[in-house]
Amino acid sequence: MCGIIGYVGNKEIVPVLLEGLRCLEYRGYDSTGIAVHKGSALNIIKSVGKLANLEEVINKTPGLLNGKNGNNGSPKSIYCGIGHTRWATHGEPSDLNAHPHFDSDEAIAVVHNGIIRNYQEVKAILLRQGVRFLTETDTEVIVQSIANNFKSTKSILNAIFKSINELEGSYALAILFKDQPNKIYAVRKEAPLVIGVGNNENYLASDSSTVSQFVEKVIRLNDNEVAEISKESIEVYNLKGEKLNKDIQAVIKSKDILDKRGFKHYLAKEINEQADVVSSLLRDFLPNHEKQIQFEHLKLTTDFLKNIDRILILACGTAYHSGLVGKYIFENLTSIPTEVQFASEYLNSKALLTNKSLVIGISQSGETADTLAALKKAISYGATLVGITNKSDSALAELAKEHLLISKAGTEVSVAATKTFLAQMTVLYLLAIYIAESTGSSKQKKISLLKQELKLIPQLIDQTLTRAEHYQEHVIKYANRADFVFIGRGINYPIALEAALKLKELSYIHASGYASGEMKHGPIAVLDPTVPVVSIIVPGETYDRVFQNSLEAKSRQAPMIAVAVDGDKKAESIFDTVLRIPPIMELISPFLTVIPLQFLAYYIAEHLGRDVDQPRNLAKSVTVE
Ligand code: F6R
Repeated sequence: MCGIIGYVGNKEIVPVLLEGLRCLEYRGYDSTGIAVHKGSALNIIKSVGKLANLEEVINKTPGLLNGKNGNNGSPKSIYCGIGHTRWATHGEPSDLNAHPHFDSDEAIAVVHNGIIRNYQEVKAILLRQGVRFLTETDTEVIVQSIANNFKSTKSILNAIFKSINELEGSYALAILFKDQPNKIYAVRKEAPLVIGVGNNENYLASDSSTVSQFVEKVIRLNDNEVAEISKESIEVYNLKGEKLNKDIQAVIKSKDILDKRGFKHYLAKEINEQADVVSSLLRDFLPNHEKQIQFEHLKLTTDFLKNIDRILILACGTAYHSGLVGKYIFENLTSIPTEVQFASEYLNSKALLTNKSLVIGISQSGETADTLAALKKAISYGATLVGITNKSDSALAELAKEHLLISKAGTEVSVAATKTFLAQMTVLYLLAIYIAESTGSSKQKKISLLKQELKLIPQLIDQTLTRAEHYQEHVIKYANRADFVFIGRGINYPIALEAALKLKELSYIHASGYASGEMKHGPIAVLDPTVPVVSIIVPGETYDRVFQNSLEAKSRQAPMIAVAVDGDKKAESIFDTVLRIPPIMELISPFLTVIPLQFLAYYIAEHLGRDVDQPRNLAKSVTVE
């Protein structure tokens, strides 16, 4: 999603901004732009498409790299500028709609993450006052509103305060004023924005992993705070104009986020990191399978745990799929009724929560607007929130700070989630075991066996990863298909959904995931010899039924692919292609069954020449509802 970078200090501005934009690329974007002070003017350069396009335009724009704020170009010269990666929400991706945006006098430049909900109303008022608009964006309304308010207040801060009062929505803003060549102004409401505190230089970014590339310390802005940032000072005000004493915190370093470690794509690197991710979580939370789970951050009393009336899991996309696996395991081990809802749908549904309910919010980024909004609604009914996120400094981490589980997977750069999915599943299994152990809801023997089996998962994942070439060889022949169907049952039904999502995201091939028993109730109508069906068929309770449902698909001449365990001879009898995984207990099989399907999506996308790490239209962190 959109990204913001800002810098004020003695470094040449354009290379710093470009480096910042490079760190933000992983969030997903469709245009980029920068604004810098140049002499007594503001200079904006922007371009639709990838960052390379912007660099090309910059290289063709003589003088921009030498842009100084009317200084003499000595090492002491102060440089100041802002940059943006845009993910279109209002108006198509284009040079014109890319940020930064100017006011009509080109005296103020703004970059914006988020959305302004009442932009049409504010725009109508400004139009009546004679303001002319050039773009379709909601962001232009912000800059024109600030300019308009500046005319009446003659004060930058008061103009910003006034505009904030007029605008509804979520936003992180970085603002340059022509008359303040050495300052950046920053504001946030329900969208992340972090100030990187340097030594005689300061940064601003929408994302702490970006700031962490440059500085050791940060100041986190809260909602409705306005910062005035210069080379040597950072002043933060509330909406009453009072100066605030803000904490300076140590930055959480995201090391080498741009290092692919020899892999062609971040996605391949991240898929291959999955054994380490699960292993490190098990080391932290289940160091010894004979002992209890160690969740230090979870201060839920046994009394609360014993009386939970329901569990509601709220999440989006891949995190929602890990939640579906979680539902299965919670109900299996704790018998507590568990529901999983798309966070974006929960806002429309009836609460049904009490102060005995447990709400689990899952989000790798911890910044997903839909998830945050749904969780706020859920806790307003008195439910207790446990947050599961990969980012310990995210909005979800803040919201759930009393009961937080970090699904530590390291920074996931590729837009499509892979290793964070396994990390979320690991934490959910451990949480279910933790509740079962604390409440005595499951037989100790069953729990001990499960913990023992979980400890073996990293080495089984490793064995699965070594089969990548086998998967590649077997899936490429299906790359020219226009539709895929994935089927699974029980705990592997969410894996069918996740596999379909991965294939769509990465290759743009249409794919659907179904509970295999549902095929005959409608979806089977789409099958013919052109539509491959991928069955997830693991020995256990569901095997025979998935086999039967696969036979029904085969009878419609669908090309048949299976994810099946080594030694399953029966699978060979009906499937054209068998993607093998090591033998595994059904209850924990999602840790393995998803891997060949991640590779299937990856290799097909790569074969088709897709932008694997930054698929079209997608964003890593979806900060608008
Ligand atoms: C899938 C994917 C998205 C995210 C979804 C939720 O590969 O990346 O579906 O899973 O946008 O994001 P988080 O987990 O950050 O809340």
